[in-house]
Amino acid sequence: MQKILIDADTGIDDSIAILYALRCPDIRVVGITTGCGNTDAAQAAENTLRLVKMAGVSYPVPVAIGENKPLGGEWEGPVPHIHGKNGVGDVELPPTEQKPLAEHASDFILRQAREQGRDLTIVTLGRMTNLALALEKEPNLPSMVKNVVFMGGTFRHPGNVTPVSEANLFGDPEAADRVFQAGFDLTMVGLDVTMKSRLTSQHLDLLVKYATPGNEEIAAYIRKAMTGRYYPFNRWQNNCLDHCPVHDPSALLYVTDPSLFTTRKARARVECSGQFTRGMVVADFREYPFDAPYLTICVDVDERRAVEKLIAAFTHQETLL
Ligand code: RIB
Ligand code: CA
Repeated sequence: MQKILIDADTGIDDSIAILYALRCPDIRVVGITTGCGNTDAAQAAENTLRLVKMAGVSYPVPVAIGENKPLGGEWEGPVPHIHGKNGVGDVELPPTEQKPLAEHASDFILRQAREQGRDLTIVTLGRMTNLALALEKEPNLPSMVKNVVFMGGTFRHPGNVTPVSEANLFGDPEAADRVFQAGFDLTMVGLDVTMKSRLTSQHLDLLVKYATPGNEEIAAYIRKAMTGRYYPFNRWQNNCLDHCPVHDPSALLYVTDPSLFTTRKARARVECSGQFTRGMVVADFREYPFDAPYLTICVDVDERRAVEKLIAAFTHQETLL
């Protein structure tokens, strides 16, 4: 059983990643923290609480709200053209009685690190602001947890915000660079792999058709959120005719099955300035590289197996046979 803590800016792809983790029998989600990005941190928490309710988990999953701005400035606001006004494609998720904790996300991360110890994997699906704040409070955090896996950045693939930067790292490069330098066992699940795995409308139809008992509502939600808002945006941005990339769920797929991915290691930093390069991951392969800890970079993925594993979490085993 893997213990994971998720930090998310709960938009459409975050929601699928969260549902996957909550429905995965090999994973125990010890809590979810939120920050701004796809939507504001409070709305991200509200979405998360409703997802926890919809997932019907048999154990408590606390949710803590975090920062609503990046370390180095102000948040530029939500992206309703991608994730809808409510962050989850304007789909109305079932309401819940559960409230967010009074504790700040960074304090919750620290408390869980202390309580769960070296068993804990932290997975970030948005900006790394909350994790960077936790680090500021406890510089020994890297030695207190098992590892950190993040969706963000790009190595060889073009960026999705600038020619070289991905949205989560572009949104708070200072936070990301602090995390890169801290000494975590750190794995990047970036655009090199997330743009390769595609969720097609055929997959979504199979998801709904073969959803196992308890997953019907989840499957219907995923198809509605994807096709209503996310597909049209991806058609415009990525020429995706009838499919979309699998960003945030890929980080959870890495946690549950690293064998799906090919990785390489590099000493790397995040560019915090630069007119065209802010948020860029700079990997140093020189003979005498700069003195940064090694980062594990996912450079390739078995996309067919990855997408099948994602769908299989909600469906009968024989769905894709
Ligand atoms: O670049 C993709 C990332 O930006 C995903 O995490 C998405 O949810 C947004 O946060
Ligand atoms: Ca995200």
